[in-house]
Amino acid sequence: MGPFGTEFCGHIAIVRYENNAWQQPAIEPLGPLPMHPAAHVFHYASTCFEGFKAYRWNDGKAHIYRMQDHIARMQRSAASLRLPIPGTDLLAGMVTDLVAHHVDDIPAPPSSLYLRPTLIGTLENIGAAAAPSTEATLFVLASPVGDYFSGGASTLKLLVEDQRARSTEQLGSTKTGGNYAAALGPTLEAKEKYGVDQVLFCPQGDVQETGAANFLLISDDEVITKPLDSSFLHGMTRDSILKLAAENGYKINERNITVAELLELVKTYEATLSGTAACLSPVGALVYQGEEIPVRDGTAGPNTLRLRKALQDIQYGQAPDTHGWLTEVG
Ligand SMILES: Cc1ncc(COP(=O)(O)O)c(C=O)c1O
Repeated sequence: MGPFGTEFCGHIAIVRYENNAWQQPAIEPLGPLPMHPAAHVFHYASTCFEGFKAYRWNDGKAHIYRMQDHIARMQRSAASLRLPIPGTDLLAGMVTDLVAHHVDDIPAPPSSLYLRPTLIGTLENIGAAAAPSTEATLFVLASPVGDYFSGGASTLKLLVEDQRARSTEQLGSTKTGGNYAAALGPTLEAKEKYGVDQVLFCPQGDVQETGAANFLLISDDEVITKPLDSSFLHGMTRDSILKLAAENGYKINERNITVAELLELVKTYEATLSGTAACLSPVGALVYQGEEIPVRDGTAGPNTLRLRKALQDIQYGQAPDTHGWLTEVG
């Protein structure tokens, strides 16, 4: 399997919004989308998306992880961009139809089928900078993906960026392309200058998240992470790990963390990134003001690995889904 996100199933689910209504969705062969050059999305970045996975269990059926919650997040993103909001049943139907169509193309765990619903503004108007796109296209791409950790249990190195922000106050919790564009420059600079894997954005010393994952600190009996606010994306993996950790006896401490506290805490706490692509990814070192600071002894911590396994066991059908997080298809 190629690198994450480079292989696609042969079909997409697609629907258009026009004349103030969602039209009939369809499963179509994957191919270029004809688009007018004046489409709103090209000029004013009216786009949002989601990312979540379906797993094929031994019973041959697909199980989609937290689909309803991802749909709800997409609806919040669409609302914040003033795009037409897809109904829950419409989008859930598109996702499950596409997964059903390609159930046999889903590789067995730890591989999976990554699903990428995408909503774009298609209004043909280059004078609409201050007007919403009243036409839109919603499609769902499906991409078989391998195990993120096949290279071994290596740890990540993060640059602690205490000046620049990853996003803005309005769009921090919106999953929109512009946020990734904003994080790209600082991330490439940090990779080149410090050899790090990612940037941990901490504007004004407030530890927020990296370009595409949330950030957690974990000890033998506590998980610390920033409480939900409008500055960062509310990850489903973060939410799942907090719930599983609480059930496993960890104290959940959702509080703001300053950079100064972070540098103290990593002497004894494990640090980890959470997200759909990589589940939990252990952080081995931070770089701050040109200095490299190890996280504990620099290795992947036992609590991170334990909580990751607890989540993956549910996703792979090896532990009961007591939260109703999975939707069966097939
Ligand atoms: C900016 C950002 N933060 C956090 C996450 C993690 O979210 P989730 O756990 O829902 O995948 C993602 C990935 O979707 C992301 O792009």
